[in-house]
Amino acid sequence: GMAADYIALLEKRLGIHFRTIRLSNEAARKQALASGRIDIVTAVTTDSLLAGEAQLARPHITIPGVIVAKSDYRNLHALQGLRVAQVIDAPLRIKADAIPGNMVLIPVQDVTTALELISEGQIDALVTDMATASYYIHREGMTDIRIVGKTGTNLSLAIAVRPDRPRLLAVMGKALSSITRDEQDRISRQWIHLKESSLLSSRSFLVAMLSVAVVVLLGLVSILVWNRTLKQQVAQRTQSLNLELRLRHEAEQELQNAHADLIKSHQKLKQAQMQLIHAAKMESVGRLAAGVAHEVKNPLSVMHLGLDYVGGEVCNKPVLMEVLDDMGKAVKRADTVINGLLDFSRESQLSLKNACMNDIIENSLHLVRHELVQRNIEVIRRLDPELPGISCDENRLQQVFVNLLMNAIQAMKNGGTITASTYRTVVRAQRDTQVVSGIRFETGQPVIVAEISDTGPGVTPDALEKMFDPFYTTKPVGEGTGLGLSVTRNLVDLHQGAIEVKNRVPQGLSVMIMFENKEN
Ligand SMILES: Nc1ncnc2c1ncn2[C@@H]1O[C@H](COP(=O)(O)OP(=O)(O)O)[C@@H](O)[C@H]1O
Ligand SMILES: [Mg+2]
Repeated sequence: GMAADYIALLEKRLGIHFRTIRLSNEAARKQALASGRIDIVTAVTTDSLLAGEAQLARPHITIPGVIVAKSDYRNLHALQGLRVAQVIDAPLRIKADAIPGNMVLIPVQDVTTALELISEGQIDALVTDMATASYYIHREGMTDIRIVGKTGTNLSLAIAVRPDRPRLLAVMGKALSSITRDEQDRISRQWIHLKESSLLSSRSFLVAMLSVAVVVLLGLVSILVWNRTLKQQVAQRTQSLNLELRLRHEAEQELQNAHADLIKSHQKLKQAQMQLIHAAKMESVGRLAAGVAHEVKNPLSVMHLGLDYVGGEVCNKPVLMEVLDDMGKAVKRADTVINGLLDFSRESQLSLKNACMNDIIENSLHLVRHELVQRNIEVIRRLDPELPGISCDENRLQQVFVNLLMNAIQAMKNGGTITASTYRTVVRAQRDTQVVSGIRFETGQPVIVAEISDTGPGVTPDALEKMFDPFYTTKPVGEGTGLGLSVTRNLVDLHQGAIEVKNRVPQGLSVMIMFENKEN
């Protein structure tokens, strides 16, 4: 097979065609060569019979001698005392001096027979060349028999040429030397199949593989161990980091709480300060008002009495009568203002009783009923029938509601609606009202609310701030004193209540009076 492949390659190189004649044995080839029937023998061992008769080109095929067996015999030495087959007439032969002691060399007819004998265990090994071994093992599909070692000898094959054709020999030699390593390898690979598998199954290879596997395993184990310790370290670090994070978070939370507390107390402080300033202001205004009122009240009553007396005397003079009437009205108006001032500056003593705000509102509405009718104002009551009572000075609270109702009435020149409501609720954090009073309830605190709303024009944001100040009024002289709401505020403050105001949508004003709901 290999020799034929080389011939085919040479034909291609030389551009000629060889005619092939098959001759079964060495003797026939020798005779054909001598008779001139053939010119070339394709492969001849260097030590064959033909060597003397023909000219040999440089050997172009070298095949190692191998040991074929079921068990590992790496070299001839390992075959000591064993039965080893060698095919009669095989080109590769073991030299007598290379045979180790006690080895029995058994001649067999052909390779197939030898492989069968090994398979049955009748002989231990076969020595032959690698190409032959590989070809037959492959062909017979042997799995338990393989090439296990080398004999240490090689089979060298060369082309033999008729002795009387020296130029043919030269041409063949040249063509042979032009064959590349690649081409040689390709041919060998085609005919020597078991090279790889034999390597795979050789003991040293197995040992090498095993040690590699052990090393890899050791490496893997150490990586695993390392990985584990690393994981533990990471877990520990994560845990401590988490702890740190939590502590930090807690600290941050505490800081935030402290900050919120600080803001709260700051607000309280500011509120207290405002209250203090307001109280001081009110006190001085109140003292002034009381002084003025006291000083003016007596002259006014003198004037009042004097007017009464003079009026009796001039009853027959109509013009004088009219003048006196105007003077009487003026004195009365002055008296109203003075009474307001006295209200404003009155000592803050309350006579507390448990009372229901619904009743107080009803009484207040009764007091202003004439004005309501006169101005064509409708009243809507939304009074909570289960409103709990509060501890209060009924008369003073009545004064509060009369003030609020009068303001609402005066704000609605062309009629409108007053809604008087009472209800229970809790103080919301976000609300659209303006807190007027000094007292403020905490968010969430339950409160009782009385609300007086009108459908008048409402007030400007600027007025919203000032309307509770004493003497602030937008009404013409004689109609408003600007004391109503400041008196209201004082009275509600005395009751520990709060006042909130807001403009209504689409129009009107709402004033809410709140007291703590102590029901629960
Ligand atoms: N219901 C209301 N609608 C519109 N404005 C109001 C209302 N209540 C009070 N005001 C405004 O607040 C001012 C102060 O009121 P108040 O203290 O009662 O004094 P007065 O009624 O004597 O003017 C009023 O002049 C008015 O401008
Ligand atoms: Mg008023």
